[in-house]
Amino acid sequence: MMMLNTDGKPLKTHLGTLSVLVFLLLLTNYCRGQSQLIGSSQPIVANLGDDIILPCYLEPAVNAAGLTLEWTRPDMDPRFVHVMRSGREMVDKKHQLFKGRTSMFTDELKNGNISMKLSNVNFSDRGKYRCFIPELGRQAFVQLVFASGSSSPPVVSLSGLDGQSGGVVLQCESAGWYPEPEVLWLDAEGKLLSAGPPETVRGPYELYTVSSRVTVEKRPSNSFTCRVQHHNTTRTTQTQIHFPDDFFKLQSRSSSIIIGLAVSLAVCILLLAVSFFFLWREHIFKTKRKRSDEDQFLNEGERVQLMKPDAVQMEALKGNVGKKSKKKNQSEQQLLEEQRRRKDAEKEVQTLEEQLQNKKKEVESKQSELQDLHAEKQRSEKELQSLKGDLWNKNRELGRIQRSLNSVSRYDQTSEREEEQKKKAEAEQEVDTLEKELESRQKETDTNITECEVKEAEVQQLQEEVQRMETSLQTLMESINTELERSRAAEASSSSSSRFKQKRSSRNESQEDQKRREEAETEVSILKEKLQNESREIPPSSRPL
Ligand SMILES: *[C@@H]1O[C@H](CO)[C@@H](O)[C@H](O)[C@H]1NC(C)=O
Ligand SMILES: *[C@@H]1O[C@H](CO)[C@@H](O)[C@H](O)[C@H]1NC(C)=O
Ligand SMILES: *[C@@H]1O[C@H](CO)[C@@H](O)[C@H](O)[C@H]1NC(C)=O
Repeated sequence: MMMLNTDGKPLKTHLGTLSVLVFLLLLTNYCRGQSQLIGSSQPIVANLGDDIILPCYLEPAVNAAGLTLEWTRPDMDPRFVHVMRSGREMVDKKHQLFKGRTSMFTDELKNGNISMKLSNVNFSDRGKYRCFIPELGRQAFVQLVFASGSSSPPVVSLSGLDGQSGGVVLQCESAGWYPEPEVLWLDAEGKLLSAGPPETVRGPYELYTVSSRVTVEKRPSNSFTCRVQHHNTTRTTQTQIHFPDDFFKLQSRSSSIIIGLAVSLAVCILLLAVSFFFLWREHIFKTKRKRSDEDQFLNEGERVQLMKPDAVQMEALKGNVGKKSKKKNQSEQQLLEEQRRRKDAEKEVQTLEEQLQNKKKEVESKQSELQDLHAEKQRSEKELQSLKGDLWNKNRELGRIQRSLNSVSRYDQTSEREEEQKKKAEAEQEVDTLEKELESRQKETDTNITECEVKEAEVQQLQEEVQRMETSLQTLMESINTELERSRAAEASSSSSSRFKQKRSSRNESQEDQKRREEAETEVSILKEKLQNESREIPPSSRPL
């Protein structure tokens, strides 16, 4: 209008242009001066490990790209969280705690949006943050509230029974909360159940663990919910528990049984713990001292016995069984050993009896041989006798011849003398022959006698052997009988009696043999005497013995 007026007044025009520029500059300054930094009236709630945005922006929107932008924590030293100058972050001034965790949205700066992103939020990040633009002298604050909720649903368990009401006591537990959450119990219709105040425990990273108990009774749906939440946020988690329809019926009908069961369960758990303790203790004491000392330890020994039958009783049992089985084995072995020995003995007896039989046969054959020998001896002795008789006759003839010869020489009858001489020579020759024959016969008889003696010795030896065998057999039989006395008395007695009979008979046989032998010997000796007596009558030159 005025500035567009160009009819010959240039100064006015220049002044007009300048005034426009000044106006624009003033307008810009005014506008900047009018812009406010806006943070967040509501605290920013951050969960553990979250990436969050702390909001801060100029309202109305003004380009903040070239300006100095500061995010600080006034309570910290150094207080700088994130500082931007000429579009670059000044990392040197930054607090250690925020290194690598902060960033600003460069694209948003021209829109006056100077919000800051903070990643991996932790408990120590909670506090009041200041966003500040020094050139504009504007600042804003953002509260960061650390809050943590469990990522998993709460754990609901049956903690016991209420004997008075007949209800069931439920427990709900949830960990990883900050600040303390509230715990709500709801029935299937979403109605709140009255429960006591929750117990809270502070755990690691400043996080709380809450637990709550409630006693519930039969409801239309038998369904119960435990809800854990931060009451002014949406952070919530819950678990529903459902009981079977007959649970409460059963429970109300025979609550005592369930109580009993529960009690016994608890007792079992207790005893289990006790048993573990005792097992552990036993293990310790085993290495330290003898078992016998343990019995006097504590008057809870009965409980120990109850709870660790496998430890004490089983061991004892095992020991007994082991001993019994050992005994059994031993007796079995003994029985087998006895049977084996018995068999061996019976075999031995059989062998001995066989040997004895053989020996007896041998004795018999020897005795028959001896008899033959005796017979031969007798015959040769007879022959010897007859020979001696012949010799005796011949000698007498020879004597008569000699006498007639002598008479012949006395009468000097040559022919008679010659005849007598001839007879004498013949007689002498006969005598000679007889003597020779007698000698050989005598030798024969001697041999016979020697043979007889040898045979007799053999028979004697055999008989002695038989005697020995019988004795050993008897001993063996006796030992077998004593062994079998109890188990096989009848058999043993019958067999032994038969054997004794046999023995007796064999003894009789041998006695008979001896008798016969003795008789033969007597005979031989008588004959010898006879022979000797007769031989004395024979001239010394011709005596065979
Ligand atoms: C939170 O900080 C503690 C040290 O104060 C650290 O041990 C933990 O790892 C941090 N948690 C997370 C999710 O970064
Ligand atoms: C600022 O930028 C962030 C990131 O893009 C966005 O989430 C936020 O809504 C913005 N604030 C405003 C006021 O536009
Ligand atoms: C919930 O609100 C109360 C005030 O009503 C406040 O003190 C508390 O810090 C808030 N909790 C969370 C998790 O925001």
